[in-house]
Amino acid sequence: MNNFIFENATKVYFGKGCVKEYLACLSAHCGQTVMLCYGGGSVKKNGIYDEVTACLKKAGQNVIEFSGIGPNPTYARVLEGAKLARENRVDLILAVGGGSVMDCCKAISMAAVYDGDLWADFWARPGVIDFEPLPLGVIVTVAGTGSEMNGGAVITNEELKVKTGRDYPECNARFALMDPTYTYSVPKKQMVSGGFDILSHIMETYFSEPDGYNVSDDLSEALMRGVIRDLRASIRNPEDYTARSNLMWEATMAENRIIKLGKRMDFECHQMEHQLGAYTNCNHGAGLAVLQPVYYRHIYRNGLSKFQKFAVNVWGISPEGKTEEELACAGVEALADFIKEIGLPTTLRELGVNETTDLEAIADSCNLSPGSYRKMVHEEILKIFRECY
Ligand code: NZQ
Ligand code: ZN
Repeated sequence: MNNFIFENATKVYFGKGCVKEYLACLSAHCGQTVMLCYGGGSVKKNGIYDEVTACLKKAGQNVIEFSGIGPNPTYARVLEGAKLARENRVDLILAVGGGSVMDCCKAISMAAVYDGDLWADFWARPGVIDFEPLPLGVIVTVAGTGSEMNGGAVITNEELKVKTGRDYPECNARFALMDPTYTYSVPKKQMVSGGFDILSHIMETYFSEPDGYNVSDDLSEALMRGVIRDLRASIRNPEDYTARSNLMWEATMAENRIIKLGKRMDFECHQMEHQLGAYTNCNHGAGLAVLQPVYYRHIYRNGLSKFQKFAVNVWGISPEGKTEEELACAGVEALADFIKEIGLPTTLRELGVNETTDLEAIADSCNLSPGSYRKMVHEEILKIFRECY
C-alpha cells in the first residue's frame, strides 16, 4: 500500500429526523446570520425548505437566501453568492441540496473572504489556502457526489469552457446533516444518475494500482455490490428507507477519501465527463454512464487482473470456462447491462449531445490522468467520444 495521511474535518449527523434535532443548535453555534443556499426549487415542493427555515427561526437566526443554483454550478454564480455573503456579513453558509449546491457553496465560502482572483489562484491550478473560508454546513437532499464529506468543489467557468474540480480540505463542511427521507422525492432519472455517480467514483478508485490485496479494493467491492443492490431496491420502492439510507452513506463513503487512501486512482472518465459538461451542460452521472463502459473496453487489457476480480467479486460471474480476457470483458459487459437496466443513457445522442458538438475540442481540453492503467492521449479520448456517439 502507498503511504498516506488521513483527516476528515466534517462532523456527520445521519438519519431520519436529524435536521429537526440538530440544525438549530449547530447554526446558533456559528453566529447570528445564515446564508441559506439551494437549487431550483425542489426544496420548496418537498417540504425541506419549510423544515429547515423553521429550525433556523427557532434558533433566532437572521436568514439571507441565495437560490437558483443550477446543476453544473458556474463561477459567475459563485461570485454572486460571495458578494451577497460579504454584504450581509454572513456567519454560516448553509447548503441545502445536491453536489451542485454544496460545491457552489464551498467556492462561495472561499470567495467571500478572498480578495484575489479565486479562479486563477485556486481552480485554474491548485493553490494553497492560507486563510479561513467562511464556515459551511450542508444538508444533503440527493445521494451521489459525496460532496458532503470532502473538500471537493467542481465549478464551471463558462467563459473559458472549463469545468474543474479541486479538493481543498479547508473547504470540508463543518457539519453534514443527512436525512435519507429527504431523498424520497428525487425523480427516478436523477436518482439513477446520482447512483451511477457513486458507482463511478468507486470504480475510478478501484481500477488503479496497487493490484495486490489491499483494504481499499476490499471496501470498494463491498460498496459496489451495495450500490447495485440499493439502487435496484430504490427503483422498486422509492421510499425503502433501508435502501435509501444505504445509498446515501455509500455515496459519502465513496468520496470521503477513505477508499482512496493508498490508491493511485484513475478518474480519467471524470475528466472526460467534466469537459463534456463544460461544453454541453449534460447531467454528470448520466454522462459517466455513457462513457465508462466504452473507456473500460479500451483499457481493460492493461489492468486485466483487476477487471477479472471485478467480474467475479462484484457481478458474481463464474470464471469457469473463460479465458482471462473473456472474464475481464464479462465484467465490463455486466456493467453496461446494468446501465441499460436502470434506464440510463448509453450513447451521447441519448444524452442529448447534438451532432454539431465539437467533440475534438472537448477531447483536446481533457486533462490526462496519471493514475490510469494506461495513460490516455487526446486522440484516443476523441475515439472514445466518437464511439460513444
Ligand atoms: O435544483 P433543484 O430544484 O433542487 O433540483 C435538483 C436538481 O435538478 C434535484 N434534486 C436534488 N434533491 C432533490 C431534487 N429533486 C427532488 N427532490 C430532492 N430531494 O436534483 C437535480 C440535480 O442536483 P445536483 O445537485 O446537480 O446533482 P448532483 O448531486 O449529482 O451534483 C452534480 C454536480 O456535482 C459535481 C458534478 O460535476 C455536478 O456539477 N460533482 C461533485 C463532486 C464533489 N464535490 O466531490 C464529485 C463528483 O464527481 C461531481 O463531479
Ligand atoms: Zn462524479
